[in-house]
Amino acid sequence: MGVPRGAPTGAYGNITTSTNGRCGMWDEARLRFGGDWNPEQWPERVWAEDVALMRRARVNLVTVGVFAWSRLEPAPGRYDFGWLDRVLDLLADNGVGAALATPTASPPPWFSLAHPGALPVTADGVRLHHGSRDTYCAAAPAYRAAARRIAGVLADRYAHHPAVALWHVHNEYGTVCHCEHAAVAFRAWLAGRHGSLDALNDAWTTSFWSQHYSDWAQISTPRATQYLANPGQLLDFRRFWSDTLLAAYAEQRDLLRAANPAVPVTTNYVLGDWVPVDHARWAAEVDLVAIDHYPSAVDGAAEEQTALAADLARGWARHGARARAAADPTADASAHRARADGDGRRPVPGDAADGGAWLLMESAPNLIYTAGRMHTKEPGRMARHSLAHVARGSRGAMYFQWRAPVGGAERFHSALVPHAGPDSRVFRETVELGAILDRIAETDGARVEASVAIGWDAASGWALQHPGLPSQRLHHHGEVAAAHRALWRAGFGCDVVLPGDPVDRYALLVLPALYLASDAAAAWARAYVAGGGHLVVTWLSGVADEHARVRAGGYPGAFRDVLGVRVEEFHPLADGDEVPLAGGGTGRIWAESVGLAGAEVVRAYAAGVLAGQPAVTRHRHGAGTAWYVSTRPDDETYRRLLTDAALAAGAAPTCPAAPAGVEAVRRRGAAASWLFLLNHTDRAHRVPAAGVELLTGALVDTAVELPAGGVAVVREAPAAR
Ligand code: GLA
Repeated sequence: MGVPRGAPTGAYGNITTSTNGRCGMWDEARLRFGGDWNPEQWPERVWAEDVALMRRARVNLVTVGVFAWSRLEPAPGRYDFGWLDRVLDLLADNGVGAALATPTASPPPWFSLAHPGALPVTADGVRLHHGSRDTYCAAAPAYRAAARRIAGVLADRYAHHPAVALWHVHNEYGTVCHCEHAAVAFRAWLAGRHGSLDALNDAWTTSFWSQHYSDWAQISTPRATQYLANPGQLLDFRRFWSDTLLAAYAEQRDLLRAANPAVPVTTNYVLGDWVPVDHARWAAEVDLVAIDHYPSAVDGAAEEQTALAADLARGWARHGARARAAADPTADASAHRARADGDGRRPVPGDAADGGAWLLMESAPNLIYTAGRMHTKEPGRMARHSLAHVARGSRGAMYFQWRAPVGGAERFHSALVPHAGPDSRVFRETVELGAILDRIAETDGARVEASVAIGWDAASGWALQHPGLPSQRLHHHGEVAAAHRALWRAGFGCDVVLPGDPVDRYALLVLPALYLASDAAAAWARAYVAGGGHLVVTWLSGVADEHARVRAGGYPGAFRDVLGVRVEEFHPLADGDEVPLAGGGTGRIWAESVGLAGAEVVRAYAAGVLAGQPAVTRHRHGAGTAWYVSTRPDDETYRRLLTDAALAAGAAPTCPAAPAGVEAVRRRGAAASWLFLLNHTDRAHRVPAAGVELLTGALVDTAVELPAGGVAVVREAPAAR
């Protein structure tokens, strides 16, 4: 008990290394494999078995202590680190790294009792009570102080422990609050953003419904109100809350980094439309983007969701590395090793060209959580899901969780060591996967090939959740997913980009439902096309500015000129309604009366009030081409449409001969390229390739035989690349 401040390195059992042993793991060509390990939930005799099993499975990284606050600090200021000392020593002795967590996602009961004002308040004004996790207000000073304190003592004690390979701050930031602390902080944030009440009144269009503010004190968080809330207020609250959570993260990160700059720091992103976190913006603040990914579909859509999540994570990481480099000219996003020599800090190296590393921090070994039930993954599916992430650049494959608990709220969530114990299918698959990851370690850090980019924007996602829109079926993320699915099915490698990111290298740029577009975003798209790029913009894009105010003069506002169209009216479709398109296929969810202003018609609506009017158009602009898609085509029509646009732009599928359902991803390194092939079908397939198949070591002359559900990773012969 008690905290030895600045405990000397070497104070941990028989470990005497003077530098941090495991954080160097990020410079090695190896893939990280493991998951959340919660030894505090088990008697110590289980720990030795756990670590022996980890070794058997070649686990090399485990997240420790995520929800252990009440065990680490059983009473205010009274600490119990003995058990964690022994846990970390055990890991170090066995060559397993720790992603050591700060436990701030779950304050102990004593904290909530002592600080009832730090409990969160819902939009309805209901104050929540202790009893689950994430029950705190991130704007409450008492919570922030307690979080800093526990992070600080952990930093002091463990920053040089040889097991510690990564700091894992908090868990899945996302909890929202509407208490008075939040309101006060919101006002200060608004003053910083808008500068004056006049500017805020203008941005929020408060002349509507008598909402003009004459004093900052009149503004609250968007609590439950009588009818439709103000869109500007809703949008700014999301932005504010993302920044509030980021500040909570950053103050912990700074403490951890100060204690030992060589250990990278991250936090695991939870993905979902509800999350008030701008993941791309946060990416500049983490040393490694970490995502938790749980597909929600049971059928093939799970694989499509997996590919999109991985491409998003890679896009965020690349965006973040670039933002870091722009903010600090001495930092070279693509050369973290060099930078480490300077200030001692070591962000995890990203790929050689772009920088920006990312890791699948959590996934479910054997379950898919889908509506109303848990679906057991079929044999081999766990490996395919994990390898789909690794293929797309994840620095490893991590799971929630190592050993299934027998009690607690998540007693039936999946685990690498399930309730049945190690004599189980899931653990046998874990051991196999550990061996596979070792065999393909040489791919770690290689660049993912992509000739197409898809735009993504957190604020557009938030704004399309507002009430009062022309349809309740509008989702930025859903539209990004639909475009990505079409390209995934067509076999094109795809990067995710943010408005403003460099896009010249891509043959095709797709902007699905980019509802909010600033003038800068419009200029960015225009310059891309003018310079020879091929752009596809879909319905809903460019309609509003960054304050969610509609751009007058015709839709799609910001992109009208580059697209050569002018839309006068929307025609949102009813659930289940379809509008036929000339040449086959249908449009769904939405249709528009598109007027031509320079563009030519590619597809017309074939029936209904819009019969004969343009549905899909194409426009020459400068040296490039800009397509407009004014409805959501059915999946097959969308696949064909984007294939046509991509081929016309000069993009090529990764492996043109790969049959439907076989996912192909190519990685490129300095001296080699690797082709990942994942057979998601229940039939064997033969796929053309040449080189060495790394899982078996077999030479591949002309084709790989992929069993049903099987995977292959081919180090390609130079001629095949
Ligand atoms: C998230 C959390 C974990 C756990 C899992 C369950 O990813 O981070 O703590 O709740 O979901 O699937």
